[in-house]
Amino acid sequence: MKKIYLLFLSLIVVLCQCGPKPEPQDISIVPEPVQMEVDSNITFVINKNTKLSFLNVDKDSPLRQYVSETYSHYFGFQPQVKDAAVHNNIVFHLDANAANELGDEGYELVVGKHIIVLSARTEAGLFYAFQTLFQLAPGNACSENPQNLAVPGVKITDYPRFEWRGSHLDVCRHFFGVDKVKKHLDMMALYKLNKFHFHLTDDHGWRIQIDKYPKLTEVGAWRVDRSDVPWGEAEPAQEGEPCTYGGFFTKDEIREIIAYAALRHIDVIPEIEMPGHSSAILTAYPEFACDDYPYCVAIGPYWPPKAILCGGNDSVMVFLKDVFKEVAELFPYEYIHIGGDEAVKTNWYACPKCQQKIQELNLPTTEHLQGWMVTEIEKYLNKMGKKIIGWDEILDGGVSSTATIQSWRGQETAIRAAQHGNEVVMSPTSHCYFDYYQDDPETQPSAFNGYVSLPKAYSFEPVPDTLTTEQAKCIKGAQCNLWSEFIFNYDHAEYMLLPRVCALSEVVWTPKDCRDYQRFEARVPSQIKMLRQLGYNPCTTIGK
Ligand code: ACM
Ligand code: ZN
Repeated sequence: MKKIYLLFLSLIVVLCQCGPKPEPQDISIVPEPVQMEVDSNITFVINKNTKLSFLNVDKDSPLRQYVSETYSHYFGFQPQVKDAAVHNNIVFHLDANAANELGDEGYELVVGKHIIVLSARTEAGLFYAFQTLFQLAPGNACSENPQNLAVPGVKITDYPRFEWRGSHLDVCRHFFGVDKVKKHLDMMALYKLNKFHFHLTDDHGWRIQIDKYPKLTEVGAWRVDRSDVPWGEAEPAQEGEPCTYGGFFTKDEIREIIAYAALRHIDVIPEIEMPGHSSAILTAYPEFACDDYPYCVAIGPYWPPKAILCGGNDSVMVFLKDVFKEVAELFPYEYIHIGGDEAVKTNWYACPKCQQKIQELNLPTTEHLQGWMVTEIEKYLNKMGKKIIGWDEILDGGVSSTATIQSWRGQETAIRAAQHGNEVVMSPTSHCYFDYYQDDPETQPSAFNGYVSLPKAYSFEPVPDTLTTEQAKCIKGAQCNLWSEFIFNYDHAEYMLLPRVCALSEVVWTPKDCRDYQRFEARVPSQIKMLRQLGYNPCTTIGK
């Protein structure tokens, strides 16, 4: 095997590392790899006789399962697994001695005339190599009559810039079920994203089964249906109107999503909002409010979001700990997102219980009651082996330096967090809010009133330049956010996400110095073609 490999390497003729590339027009890999050499004299043809072999990969490994499930979908041929073929063979080589620079997620991919070798130190690396291989030859995706597929001769060395490469999906304002979430995860996998931020609770619906509090889903997951009118024109519920719009994920469905994501090397980060954005909770359990206002699962625009859990009521903390316990037991990952954004404190100022708690705890301001609640939950989750992440408002009430901050209001919050020693995930509205318009609003379906064009998304630099080298290490990566107020179905979600996710993927994966918008834009039409072949619904125009 090694001999064939070396012989092949000696035939490589063109070296491309960043900068302008003599890249054949038909090579369109997103995110762009760190280094790619192209030999235009070489083509490997994938056909029905192509064999797959796995070196050092466990018989029952998730990678084998993923490849066998996906190969025919990607290439149109049934996979044939053989132990050690040398001709017409695609080899997945798990190689603990592969170059250190590949790290935990990098890979090498070598396409020769008779053999393709994917090698990596980890299964994650092999998984990403396989995504790249597909993008080298996407022509047969979903085809009922697959043809021979030509894969260009390349040698690729590739690894990510950031460890956190995320995509957020709001399933509260509009509900998208298991199949849509799986499609979202497939799209993330294609672009080597690895953190799925699952926004599960909000004013407009509670979307996860919690055994101890069944009314969260019996009541909190349902609202009056206004899906036949634009979001901004939804009338409030009438007395006695039935709540028929909504849905939620059972624990079994969540387990199914987690297993599906795990095969794709994606962590699922559940978000449970506290203390604000709590209309759905307070509709189901009004006793957790500061007042006796008749809360109802929100419909249409709801601003300012007044619903807030009473921070002075001890049973609220019991409730939150119970909920987070079930969530922590269900999701196997390191992080749980505790929300924390836009917690309007009007009720807390007027609430005797909240004010008494503030006095008892000797807190400097009412704002700090949120800080106390967050810290209590952080300590509780830490004991269960979890870490918290929260929206950047949690900086304002006094936060530990061990919480991860998701910066969304702008660079300033990321800088404050990094200076305080907190790790940071970047998702500023200016570049990462894909619910904003992507092209001239006159030509687009209604969207949130902001503008993030494809070039704007691409221009994002996650590390603020005022940080010291040490502080810059706090930036774990970035993600895009998709709030679904204006997004009534998943088809439309895809339209808003794509191709901007392509830009985001390059921001978080490709080395900063290798990024070039002109070169990226030239690859977008083939990505759009591939996405359509795969059944996605990308936007096909590019805003300025
Ligand atoms: C947010 O967009 N409210 C985090
Ligand atoms: Zn209160």
